[in-house]
Amino acid sequence: PEIMILNGPNLNMLGVREPAIYGRETLGDIEDACRAMAEDLGLGIDFRQSNHEGELVSWIHEARDSADGIVINAGAYTHTSVAILDALTLAELPVIEVHLSNIYKRESFRHHSYISPVAQGVLCGFGGQGYVLALQAMARIIGQTDE
Ligand code: DQA
Repeated sequence: PEIMILNGPNLNMLGVREPAIYGRETLGDIEDACRAMAEDLGLGIDFRQSNHEGELVSWIHEARDSADGIVINAGAYTHTSVAILDALTLAELPVIEVHLSNIYKRESFRHHSYISPVAQGVLCGFGGQGYVLALQAMARIIGQTDE
């Protein structure tokens, strides 16, 4: 089974981006942790990042045929993008939403997510570990029980 892990805008800047909020971990570190967990679970991962909404939409379309589940940190598009919501809806795949920070203890504009209504579950506030936990949850959801 293959899981597409999608990262939205500004997440390529992790490590230098507001470390008090997002920590010192880079996106590469998070990808490494995901690869290690995926291997343990017997999953393949396709880990991507884009600063462009349309590119994320196209990747979600691709996932429809290439993936068994989607883990997504849509960054700020979480709070703005009906297009990403629509793409996730038509993908007809299990979706897990991840945020590094606890969006509920931040500004109120971060409290609403357009994508949560189509997510099986949401992980926020656990930093990069959230992605690893999401993979474990995804393995259960898709019935991959090598675990
Ligand atoms: C984020 C939270 C969003 O509000 C923010 O715009 C991000 C990152 C997180 O991982 O905590 O870019 O998705």
